[in-house]
Amino acid sequence: MLIHSASQLLTLAGGPQRGESLGNLGLVPDGAVLVQGEKIAAVGTSAELRAAYPEEPELDASGSVVMPGFVDAHTHLVWAGDRAAEFEMRLQGKSFLEIQEAGGGILSTVRDTRLASMDELASQTRGRLQTMLRYGTTTAEAKTGYGLDLDTEQHILQTILNLDSEGPLELAPTFLGGHAIPPEFHSDAESYTDLVSGRMLHEVRDWWEDHGQGRPLPFVDVFCETGAFSLDQSRRILQAAQALDFPLKIHADEFTNLGGARLAAEMGAVSADHLVHTSLSEFEALGKCDTVAVSLPCSPFGLAEPEYTPAWYVLQSGGLLAIASDLNPGAAWCESMQFVIALACRHLRLTPAQAIAAATINAAAAICRQAKVGSIEVGKQADILILSVPDHRHLGYRYGTNLVRTVIKKGVVYSFQD
Ligand code: NIG
Ligand code: FE
Repeated sequence: MLIHSASQLLTLAGGPQRGESLGNLGLVPDGAVLVQGEKIAAVGTSAELRAAYPEEPELDASGSVVMPGFVDAHTHLVWAGDRAAEFEMRLQGKSFLEIQEAGGGILSTVRDTRLASMDELASQTRGRLQTMLRYGTTTAEAKTGYGLDLDTEQHILQTILNLDSEGPLELAPTFLGGHAIPPEFHSDAESYTDLVSGRMLHEVRDWWEDHGQGRPLPFVDVFCETGAFSLDQSRRILQAAQALDFPLKIHADEFTNLGGARLAAEMGAVSADHLVHTSLSEFEALGKCDTVAVSLPCSPFGLAEPEYTPAWYVLQSGGLLAIASDLNPGAAWCESMQFVIALACRHLRLTPAQAIAAATINAAAAICRQAKVGSIEVGKQADILILSVPDHRHLGYRYGTNLVRTVIKKGVVYSFQD
């Protein structure tokens, strides 16, 4: 299949984009892409590719931006129920931590998720995946963390593996047993940290051998935050995970700065996420290593909080910046990376081109998939979007409606004409 006549083909070629080089779209005017099977076989101008491949069935993308599928590098995809009532409480002035202390927040979703059958959990999650695909996400990270006991955490991991096999969206799994202190531990974070860093991680490792079907080990993540896990507890969990060869992620500096970003840099984590209250010196430490800084602007937006990641510190420090949805039932029930881009342009002060790179090739790096997805280059997976707009700057500029007309995932075409 030859996709041709794109007003702008955004290739994002050349690998993840560090520091102030962020925003190199690799733009080809009147661009074309040849897709063979699941992969990209050629990239060039329409004139070049139509001359070289005259027999190929054609897909006309005139007047459209053609770009890589979005990679959503941070989601809490699998949960049951909703927290609409809590949203109203927040509007009336209650903070995230106050709601959590009153038995709400993450723990109320833990209750609903523990009670849900695996079928119910899969069907609620599948609905969200369908929306994500329509809005252009073709690969997503997916965390556990609403089980907080071994059985439910394994059910969630199994749900992620099943939905990944079902497709078309591909999922990169993360074990987030360290998301909150479950009620049976009565706020005894030390004992729960012992359990996660000891038995739970070992059991997850063994379970993965039997159920992972040869997939690489999942990431291990921890919520390093006041009211969740202290810096020391986070370090214990991540060190235990590293000793078992799990790649690492961390939720750092969402509400308070406990030093999680520096820990991520010291431990060589794959990513450090949130980074709202991170200091310049911590961004400089991240800038000297390959840990991707993942900003999640839907969370402050969803919580109506005024502060966002100071993204320019990441760029000035030479770091790798990605953006993601943080899709979850508390702060950020948002399946749309287009909306994430719109927020990033306004609150992280990124240009549309920078936000697009942060949502594709750099986001792929945040889940170690930059060799396969995140750009349109020969040999990579054919994960491609055709937008209903002629210029990439409509992303960010426009928001709240879907600008994705066609999604191509591993060479298969899904059309969503309005
Ligand atoms: O990334 N910060 C911790 N976890 C989520 C919120 C999850 C929830 O509220 O259910 C986050 O923002
Ligand atoms: Fe999160």
